Amino acid sequence: MLTHTLTNTTQYFLQLEENFGAHNYHPLPVVLEKGKGVFVWDVDGKKYFDFLSGYSAVNQGHCHPRIINVLIEQAQKLTLTSRAFHNNLLGEYEKFIIDFFQYDKVLPMNTGVEAVETAIKLCRRWAYNKKSIKDGEAKIIVCENNFHGRTSTVISFSTDAQSYNGFGPYMPGFVIIPFNDVEALQTALEDKNVAGFLVEPIQGEAGVCVPDDDYLSKAKQLCEAYNVLFMADEIQTGLARTGKMLACDHEDVHADILILGKALSGGTLPVSAVLANDDIMLNIKAGEHGSTYGGNPLACAVAIESLKVLQEENMADNAEKMGALLREELHKLQSPFISTIRGKGLLNAIVINHANKDAAWELCMSLKENGLLAKPTHGDKIRFAPPLIITQKQIMECVDIIDDSLKFL
Ligand SMILES: Cc1ncc(COP(=O)(O)O)c(C=O)c1O
Repeated sequence: MLTHTLTNTTQYFLQLEENFGAHNYHPLPVVLEKGKGVFVWDVDGKKYFDFLSGYSAVNQGHCHPRIINVLIEQAQKLTLTSRAFHNNLLGEYEKFIIDFFQYDKVLPMNTGVEAVETAIKLCRRWAYNKKSIKDGEAKIIVCENNFHGRTSTVISFSTDAQSYNGFGPYMPGFVIIPFNDVEALQTALEDKNVAGFLVEPIQGEAGVCVPDDDYLSKAKQLCEAYNVLFMADEIQTGLARTGKMLACDHEDVHADILILGKALSGGTLPVSAVLANDDIMLNIKAGEHGSTYGGNPLACAVAIESLKVLQEENMADNAEKMGALLREELHKLQSPFISTIRGKGLLNAIVINHANKDAAWELCMSLKENGLLAKPTHGDKIRFAPPLIITQKQIMECVDIIDDSLKFL
């Protein structure tokens, strides 16, 4: 193993968080103070490739100049009105994003999990108004090993004990089926009280689990046949990350409810959105849902620019090409410690195969020493998801770093 010495400066910041912050995360011991493109720098000036991209929030690269310029300009004019009043950017943004993704309406929120909550409420309301399900009886189908966020409703249908243990009572009304199992979906859809199917097109937190090539399209067809809403949580998979603007685009699937977050602001502030057609969206009336910050002018300006940057700089294409190259080069390493390499575009993971159960963590520590930041998920999986602007030369450099680091296992 490489020796990991922490400087006094790093230790100072780690200690502050340890002493004064809640202990609800277990970060790698690195303290960052600057970011640019695919790189971040720590408080001692050491430079790293960022292979996590803020869990895919920084798809456009750190501090993208166009996004930062818009952020600064708008911050100097108007940042928040609340929805008690109108602002001159909300409508412009709404028009822009619904044209971009081809829906009738958008409902703006802030964090990803708020958008998921919004989708759940929309789906239930649609079920009572349009599908004549009895009030309070609507069910939503979800998948095993899902990750949709951390609120008490959303953890109620998590299958990860770390997420839900000790936080009950839990919200009823969810049916859990295996991911990537069309038959299980069909069986669950037989229940007349089912209103929606909520799915991540690729399960990110679970360790980048990519379903069969036709899973989403078959699931969508089944949902249509049973008059059930297909809700795609594209918070992590969307916005060019997997090589298309949306992961559902790989199968030409147009979700009934589309949930976006993370990279909608290029990593600058929490901006999320739920998109749907009028038949669904207009079931929620004034006063029935919202958020103080949702649709604030700063977020609207930044979201428009973040989407333009993704499109105008062809980031989906680059993600497709660089992702293929990354997986190809990782395969060439033929490391006995990597049992699986999987992913789509630049959403990738390796699964570590090692007698030491902490091997994935230790590999991430060695990667850090060698100038690349990645984080294990669920013990043995490591996500490799750099910003989408990464170049061929940088991918090759990163594979060399990974190769070197594996030698210390
Ligand atoms: C698929 C998915 N849904 C929802 C969320 C929750 O987003 P947030 O952390 O912004 O609430 C995440 C976050 O990782 C996610 O990956």
